[in-house]
Amino acid sequence: MTVRRPVAALLAPLLAFASIVPAGAQTPLPRIETHDGRHTLFVDGAPFLILGAQANNSSNYPAVLPQVWPTLDRLHANTLEMPVAWEQIEPEEGRFDFGWVDTLLDGARTHGKRLVLLWFGTWKNTGASYAPAWVRTDHARFPRMARPDGKTSVTLSPHAETTLAADSRAFAALMRHLKTADPDHRVIMVQVENETGVYNQKRDLSAAADKAFQGAVPAPLARRVGRSGSWAQVFGPLADTAFNAWATACYVDRVAAAGQAELALPMYVNAAIGDPFAAPGTGGGASGGPDMQVIDIWKTAAPHIALLAPDIYNRNGTTVLAVLDRYARPDNALLVPEIGNAADYARFLWAALGKGAIGFAPFGMDETGYVNYPLGAKVLDEATLAAFAEPYRLMAPIAGAWARLAGMHPTWGTAKGHDDTAQSGTLGAWKITAHYGLWSFGEPEWTHLSADPAPGVGRPVGGVAAIQLDPNRFMIAGSDVRVRFGRVDGRESELLRVEEGTLAPDGTWRTSRIWNGDQIDYGLNLTHPTLLRVTLWTGKN
Ligand code: DGJ
Repeated sequence: MTVRRPVAALLAPLLAFASIVPAGAQTPLPRIETHDGRHTLFVDGAPFLILGAQANNSSNYPAVLPQVWPTLDRLHANTLEMPVAWEQIEPEEGRFDFGWVDTLLDGARTHGKRLVLLWFGTWKNTGASYAPAWVRTDHARFPRMARPDGKTSVTLSPHAETTLAADSRAFAALMRHLKTADPDHRVIMVQVENETGVYNQKRDLSAAADKAFQGAVPAPLARRVGRSGSWAQVFGPLADTAFNAWATACYVDRVAAAGQAELALPMYVNAAIGDPFAAPGTGGGASGGPDMQVIDIWKTAAPHIALLAPDIYNRNGTTVLAVLDRYARPDNALLVPEIGNAADYARFLWAALGKGAIGFAPFGMDETGYVNYPLGAKVLDEATLAAFAEPYRLMAPIAGAWARLAGMHPTWGTAKGHDDTAQSGTLGAWKITAHYGLWSFGEPEWTHLSADPAPGVGRPVGGVAAIQLDPNRFMIAGSDVRVRFGRVDGRESELLRVEEGTLAPDGTWRTSRIWNGDQIDYGLNLTHPTLLRVTLWTGKN
């Protein structure tokens, strides 16, 4: 102690100095890296997995934050997705107010959470409702889309330079503010706009837009799709939507670029999606937003957008799995920025992780009492919260390590589809099968033992994510599932060693016990969120 006191005294002036030097001077910017088609989000220079939650839309005020943080804690979430609205920061043209942003940053620091800011600007669920009144009421300067019936559209036109300039200026001001107000990068990503596109029509029907629609598809896009000509010639039944996607993506890209010129955080856009199985030009979703049918268009038009992300409110498991597949691409990191907060959506965390997701966030997670049923839960009760909190509790301490491993190795994952049918995937020489609705003991064909239906039968629970660490070694995380490994070539194999445990932050495995006997004789039965390391042996035959 006697030695330490003088040292501390010597350090005191330095420490005082340190506290006024922006910590961010040394804190690296969050970024997304892609290697071999696998994506990793880095925060503070280390891999990071977003175990997120999004608050309700109108929770973006200081008075409501006390009803938000407790839900984040209850969920074991590490990241809050929260709106910052254009109307909030620029209530009068040219007068900016960042009080909300500063309160949010303070809260995130106090509560140990990261933030994803949602820029509600020109588009919010396609409408203009979060643009300031001075934008919404001036249709001459900030034109709405022309509609077939001549009425006022809720959607601002993506063809108006004036609107683009005003939105870009506000967004740039926000990012400039963050540069000084957030030196330690509480904010790790920014969503640019919210659910762009338009409903009930495919594109702006103004004379100017009509004229552009008759013109040629821009050269970069023509090159990308390998066809040239008019929109109708190149895109057929998708032409109007493709045209609006191009205009919207170019617009959003310029907003993002204006923001990144101030602070180059990773930026993404979210999609009001349609049916993944629909024919081109059909299937719902917001026309022109980054929906599945126009991903390539957005990729070409919006190089400042790191990724396109699906908002998921479809309860059909098979459909959800298809959506995840469509957005998990070598050129697009999978992020689920919104998914319904009903318990049946929670299982898709496993599928998303297995498809290499950098993040996942149920929507409407706070104590304000608002529920968006039938999209999400009827009530945000303890059982509903637990459905998300229990998997998050398993993953929270290992989130960074999982992200590191998933960025380095092949992954696969799934969740129960629209019924209890088993699903399989392949990693290297191994076929991995997920079975649902089984007891942990015995085989379903053992009809000589009468048994009640297992707890998972017919219920929307269950899933697994796997990382292939070595040719014959896997990490699996999952719940409410029986996992089996078999050789793709049909050779005999055995579970050589099954370890339950956890990961140290550097990715080192720590075993808590070995599973053997009943615990492996009938596959690997994960009755609750569980992490296993599995080593396999292949026989000669
Ligand atoms: C998707 C939007 O992005 C959210 O802001 C919200 O409006 C939900 N739909 C519905 O609750």
